Order: sequence, then C-alpha cells, then structure tokens
Amino acid sequence: NNNHVNSVRVASPASNVTSELADIDWDNLGFGLMPTDYMYMMKCSQGDSFSKGELQRFGKIELSPSAGVLNYGQGLFEGLKAYRKHDGNILLFRPEENAIRLRMGAERMCMPSPTVEQFIEAVRATVLANERWIPPPGKGSLYIRPLLMGSGAVLGLAPAPEYTFLIYVSPVGNYFKEGLAPINLIVETEMHRATPGGTGGVKTIGNYAAVLKAQGTAKANGYSDVLYLDSVHKRYLEEVSSCNVFVVKGNVISTPAIKGTILPGITRKSILDVARSQGFQVEERLVTVDELINADEVFCTGTAVVVSPVGSITYQNERITYGNDGVGRVSQQLYSALTSLQMGLTEDKMGWIVEL
Ligand code: COI
Repeated sequence: NNNHVNSVRVASPASNVTSELADIDWDNLGFGLMPTDYMYMMKCSQGDSFSKGELQRFGKIELSPSAGVLNYGQGLFEGLKAYRKHDGNILLFRPEENAIRLRMGAERMCMPSPTVEQFIEAVRATVLANERWIPPPGKGSLYIRPLLMGSGAVLGLAPAPEYTFLIYVSPVGNYFKEGLAPINLIVETEMHRATPGGTGGVKTIGNYAAVLKAQGTAKANGYSDVLYLDSVHKRYLEEVSSCNVFVVKGNVISTPAIKGTILPGITRKSILDVARSQGFQVEERLVTVDELINADEVFCTGTAVVVSPVGSITYQNERITYGNDGVGRVSQQLYSALTSLQMGLTEDKMGWIVEL
C-alpha cells in the first residue's frame, strides 16, 4: 500500500460521491486541520525547475534538521478553496492568481517555483484525489494549502539546495469562532506586521509567526484579531493578521493600497471588482486610522475569512462600533455576491471559476 495513487488520479470527478462520503459532521466545520487522503509532492534542486510531482498518502514528511525552511524561514504558502456545486461539480476560485502570487513570492524568497500550469494541475489532482472531503453545497469548502519550501540542508545562510512544493487540503467552515457574526478588532499600536522593503507583500511563513504574539494578547482580551498600522507613520491601516481590511463610507469603499507591506489578497482584488460592478466607488489608497471613526462599515476579506463584517474596533482605548451588532448592508451585499459566484449559484461573468 504505497504512495502512488494512479487509481485515484484517474477517478472521474462525479464518481463515488455517495459511496465515498467522508463520515464527518458537516454542520459543524470550523477552520482546523482534518487529515484527508492524499497530498501532492514535487521536488527540485536549486537551479533546476520543477518537473514531475505525484500524489502520496497524506502524512508526515521527512526533513533534515538543517532544512532551509526550518532554520532560516525559506518558505511560502498559499490558500484557495474548492466548492461543491449542487450538480456535483467541483469549482475552484481563481487558482491562477494563487499560482502567480506564489511565483512572485518565490522570486523574493530566492526559491524556484512551479509554473502556473503545474500549480493548477497539482491543485486539480489533489482536490480530485480528496474529493470525498469536499463539504456538501452550502456546508463549507475544501481549503487547499500549497506550500513551497527550502527543504534541502543548509548551515551557513544561503538558499537551500533543494525545494519542495506540497499541497494538502482540509474541509473547512467559518474561520472566526464568531461564524458570520461581526468580529471585534483591536488596533495594534506597538508591534508591526511588516516594514517597507521587507516581505509583508509576499505570503512567506514568517509573516504569520510574527503576528502570533499580538494576536494572542488580543484574543486573551476578548478580541477576534488585530488590525495593524504602518510601521513608519503608525497612522495608516495595513491589514489584519490573516486578512485585508476595507472601510465603507457612503458609496465609497476604500482599502489600503498594495505597496509591499500588505498582502495582495485575491479576495481583496475580487471584492474590489465586484464592488465596482455593483456601482460602488472603489479606492485603493492610504487609509488613515482616523477614518475608522466615521466609517459606516468595516469588513475584512481573505480566502479563509471570505468577507467578515467588523462589529467593533478598539483604538487607544476607544471602541468604535459598526452595524448595531448586525452585519452591515454593504458587507452583506458583497459577501453574498462573492460567495454566490464561488459556489456557482450565479453566472460567472468575470471568468473566475475553474470547473474541475
Ligand atoms: C487564507 O486566507 O487563505 C490565508 O492564507 C490566511 C491564513 C492565516 C489562514
């Protein structure tokens, strides 16, 4: 019973849906790892290109204690989701955007990266191999987590001699424990997520370790997460630990512009387009922390969080509230528009959906 799974690779998407349903409580999915059947692995040496990957049984991986990723943080990740449609088909949302972002990040982190085609093909194979773990329509999605890492051994500081591209998946529901209810944020005034010239604009693993401390304090004090300010002026909004942030005022929807310190979210970019197509005026610019005071609504976007309405933001001991404990009108409208598209409930005029 070894790792090669050609039988799974050739399984047709529509097959075995009823006979191989995973035995889990689909109504109570949170955002945690549920081990599935298969993962995808592809390796290459430094200076080479990725050429051939394969599906393996999901499980532990072997790394040298001196792997580049373990010692010097040479690693990137991605996140995207597969949805099951009512007709049984499986939908991916803009996977080529993840592929492109991974390639940009790999350049910054001195790593080789799969081509866009290799990336999408690997995602497709991994999702199909784990098809029985895709939640039924409306119950959640299959979260797809690609990783790219320096897996070769180093001791002196240098790019690793070998790289591994890996994809695993897990069925997920809502990211925040609040579910779809508004989240409560606190503006972090001491610590920063990113600095100009750093790696805040790429999805490197270290960016996420760096926010754990402030996030932990925030959670201990009853907040859902932390909203970061820019590290130079300490005045402009950047992002939340795991998502981008938007401010609504009248018909104008604003979000911090991408300038190297903010993660270029695919949901962020999609929401900007959806909002524009619905007649909102959309602005990518510097957004000051003071604008939070007069905003009508604030919401966050991300693959994991989707569109999360913000119910309150605490800044320097002042608590600003939004939406009277409910979901703001604009946040609700954009959430519905985006998720209907992702779940295949509305026609995809944008060309964003890839049907497996
Ligand atoms: C995602 O939204 O997919 C992310 O990568 C954020 C992560 C912290 C869950």
